[in-house]
Amino acid sequence: MKYILETKSLTKSFGGVHAVDHLSINIPQGIITGLVGPNGSGKTTLVNVLSGFSGEDEGSIVFSGVDRKKILPWENQAYGITRTFQQIRLFDQMSVLDNILVVLTERSPLAALFERHGAYHLKIAEDILKRIDLHEKKSHHAGDLSYGQRKLLEMGRVLAMNSNIILLDEPFAGLFPEMVKKIEGIILELKKEGKTIVLVEHNMAIIRNLCDHLIVMDAGKLLAEGHPEKILAEKSVLEAYLGE
Ligand SMILES: Nc1ncnc2c1ncn2[C@@H]1O[C@H](COP(=O)(O)OP(=O)(O)O)[C@@H](O)[C@H]1O
Ligand SMILES: [Mg+2]
Repeated sequence: MKYILETKSLTKSFGGVHAVDHLSINIPQGIITGLVGPNGSGKTTLVNVLSGFSGEDEGSIVFSGVDRKKILPWENQAYGITRTFQQIRLFDQMSVLDNILVVLTERSPLAALFERHGAYHLKIAEDILKRIDLHEKKSHHAGDLSYGQRKLLEMGRVLAMNSNIILLDEPFAGLFPEMVKKIEGIILELKKEGKTIVLVEHNMAIIRNLCDHLIVMDAGKLLAEGHPEKILAEKSVLEAYLGE
């Protein structure tokens, strides 16, 4: 297996709490890795540190064999990483379409500067909205969408980012089965395109359905790692959940 992302003894603490505690994991390229663990086990903190949203205290993060500290700013895109938030973050006062367009133009500001009528980015944005079934809502304020549609729009922004590595923090939380199916479909399409996906999720049926690899965290540490079916049958993993 080829690893696109590795952590070495990664540590992040808040006061006395070691949210991520000397964690060494490997994320295989081009497949879906599930990240599970009881509440408070450090999953969101790990996503925050991996995506550069917050800094680590100790340890290192390696992208395709290159230490993140050695990656130069203009090389960032090549090692690009996109994440979603457990709490949805959209521009509520902007239209659904503009929520996608801002991502596209931010990613290629030069093209945005030179294009005459925004036709290039507009075409891509409209295609993305069709893919996520929100095209009919393109002129609505993002703030007026239902919770499920907001989760979909967040996935639309992930598609617009077009990054190689995608970290999804509970994209299914609180969704009705129909919406779960849609988002599962989008994630499987991303995998088909060769993206590497890390999926934080509590629902084991979804994990079994989507994931090729599973990482279990407990109290900031690695508890188990391997094929989902094998890992979910392990006694220590069951105990971590039952002891919650
Ligand atoms: N910003 C923060 N300030 C203080 N403590 C935090 C902060 N973020 C997370 N924690 C603590 O770190 C631990 C891990 O939290 P978190 O990463 O959110 O876990 P999970 O996503 O697995 O539920 C918890 O004990 C939590 O209370
Ligand atoms: Mg969390």
